[in-house]
Amino acid sequence: MFIVFEGPEGAGKTTQIRELARRLEAKHLNLVVTREPGGTPASDAIREVILNPKLEINPLTEFLLYSASRAQHVADVISPALKQGKTVISDRFYGASVAYQGYGRGLELAFIYDLTNRVTAGVNPDLVLLLDIDPEEGLKRVARRGQKDRLELADLSFHQKVRQGFLQQASDNATWVVVDASQKPETLADMIWEMVAGLLE
Ligand code: TMP
Repeated sequence: MFIVFEGPEGAGKTTQIRELARRLEAKHLNLVVTREPGGTPASDAIREVILNPKLEINPLTEFLLYSASRAQHVADVISPALKQGKTVISDRFYGASVAYQGYGRGLELAFIYDLTNRVTAGVNPDLVLLLDIDPEEGLKRVARRGQKDRLELADLSFHQKVRQGFLQQASDNATWVVVDASQKPETLADMIWEMVAGLLE
């Protein structure tokens, strides 16, 4: 099974992924937890470039960098793990490119999907958990964490478009589930666990 977590900045994906992984491991599931951009040494190096607040990167370059990171990640980590029957949890996948580079930056969605099909070689999540939060609230949470990366520094209207892009994908795809990430982390973790446990059965 391939589970992806998505959401605007500050939605609490990291905490929820950690909690879900803990519960799955307690069930002795063979688990791979990974993230995008990143997940392989080359993809992590690309992540450093993409998120560097000192670099000016145009939307097309940005999308190509995320795609490059993803191509390596799918080939080296996600595909092999799924072939070995492992459960994979990824902190973000191509839905983030659709939301951020498509809805947020304004790149043509058809182009994003075309290149993504090549990059993912048809690998698709079985479940996408969209941790939905108002970007104003999410960005406040991010600000409390300290220094912001290049994407977090983008203005509020960009992040609002990103959120709409996520919600649109959730309403278009049966594999997506929206969860209200403004709830208490423990409540959220229980809700997520119920969904995943149901799927596993
Ligand atoms: P993270 O904050 O969830 O680790 O993700 C890093 C940033 O990269 C976050 O601002 C979302 C952004 N992103 C995209 O813009 N496009 C993508 O395809 C991915 C995977 C992430």
